[in-house]
Amino acid sequence: MSQLTAVIDLDLPGARISRHVYGHFAEHLGRCIYGGFYVGEDSEIPNEGGIRLDVVEALRALRIPNLRWPGGCFADDYHWRDGVGPREERPRMVNSHWGDVVEDNAFGTHEFLHLCELLGAEPYINGNVGSGTVREMSEWVEYLTRGDDSPMAALRREHGRDEPWTVPFFGIGNEAWGCGGNMTAGQYTHLARQYSTYIRNHGETPVYKIAAGANVDDYGWTESLMQAQSGLGGADKRAHQLFQGLSLHYYTINGSWQDKGDATVFGEDDYYVTVKRAQRMGELLRGHSAVMDAYDPERTVGLIVDEWGTWWNVEPGTNPGFLYQQNAMRDALVASVHFDLFHEHAERIHMANIAQTVNVLQAMILTDPDSGALVLTPSYHVFAMNTGHHDAARLPLAFKEALPTRSVEGAEVPLVSASASTKDGAALISLSNLDAASATTIVLDLRGRAFTGVEATLLTADTLQTHNTPERPDAVAPVTHTGVREHERGLEVELPPHSYVTVSLQLA
Ligand code: AHR
Repeated sequence: MSQLTAVIDLDLPGARISRHVYGHFAEHLGRCIYGGFYVGEDSEIPNEGGIRLDVVEALRALRIPNLRWPGGCFADDYHWRDGVGPREERPRMVNSHWGDVVEDNAFGTHEFLHLCELLGAEPYINGNVGSGTVREMSEWVEYLTRGDDSPMAALRREHGRDEPWTVPFFGIGNEAWGCGGNMTAGQYTHLARQYSTYIRNHGETPVYKIAAGANVDDYGWTESLMQAQSGLGGADKRAHQLFQGLSLHYYTINGSWQDKGDATVFGEDDYYVTVKRAQRMGELLRGHSAVMDAYDPERTVGLIVDEWGTWWNVEPGTNPGFLYQQNAMRDALVASVHFDLFHEHAERIHMANIAQTVNVLQAMILTDPDSGALVLTPSYHVFAMNTGHHDAARLPLAFKEALPTRSVEGAEVPLVSASASTKDGAALISLSNLDAASATTIVLDLRGRAFTGVEATLLTADTLQTHNTPERPDAVAPVTHTGVREHERGLEVELPPHSYVTVSLQLA
């Protein structure tokens, strides 16, 4: 068992960790919308306007700051006018990316914004560049956000909504390098300039425009967009910006895209490969930030990691196009590692969105297609344990000793991850022991301020493969952590193997 010392200065608040890095993503994909969020008004499952109230209630505990919709790849196939107006008159379409199923457009703009209102989340709507038109995107923004009697505002009223919505975030296409049009960086950069021009501010809240950014380590893509933006200027710089945020997509997969590994059947070596792949997010954040820094040293443009998380093989017997996977203790640690990295890069990261919230990829919630039963995943619990970091100021945290490592694919992978923040007279410290088999102890050397109260929460399980099911919904669930003792330097925290611990301090 190793012993480490983490020095934390409680009196040195640093960059603000935007609550939006705890953002979510709901695509028309598999059972995320239909069966997940939305069951229709005639369902026996309690709902409001067709939206599942049990799902809403569970997610409200996470204080979801924003929700991205309708895709993903689906966004560049989606034509918003098909999803407004009387449901029985809405045209159908084929969801070619995800299972080749017929989409009846029952869940459209009004339903999504109703969902956001129920969740208390800010909407992030992703427009269609791949197969849409500039006019279509421009009119969607007008329909959403304009208050007077403009043609689109009048159409919205005809469809039953008087007041405009506040839509603070709008995406200019998705994965333009792939499913969003198979474009080159130059081609998309030109289109982004054109589309961005017609995304107008109709309401009081200016739209924060998010350009479709790079795939993994395509730094050239980031450079192309940042360079285009830097050529623009003027007195009001923001008004001349093509975009306020630039996205990045990176998924943690174990094998190849053909065989990504199983969610619950894996060995210890596989697990460490996962840890290494999850930590790669740090390299990508450094790389893209360096490119952005060259054009935007003041860091006004946000890096928006609007798709991240684990992507495993689908559960046996499920539709391969539905991306339904289980979620084990391993996934929880992937989430905690990502959050530490997002906190570390708080100056540049304005938002991140887990893919995806319900029934797809690294979900918070899984619903049973037959019984409708709802299960909270281990990843859900990490999001819940971290709500204290939302809009908090990052605190400096440094280990005195070299971290224990494990050799994986020729690299030394650190087996401990941590971060800390402060807000409202409290501090929250997040500690992950990534060692599959050994416990560790971390002394928290707490400097700068005294504290009057301590609460600690532990998330772990017998094995890394343990996951929650309707039969065992709490196989992985947070408990009060009793392994925290006073220490001459502050506190001493025991971390069992493969565990996640949060320590919350009331500051004096
Ligand atoms: O999240 C699933 C898919 O992954 C999204 O639709 C797409 O943007 C990405 O490739």
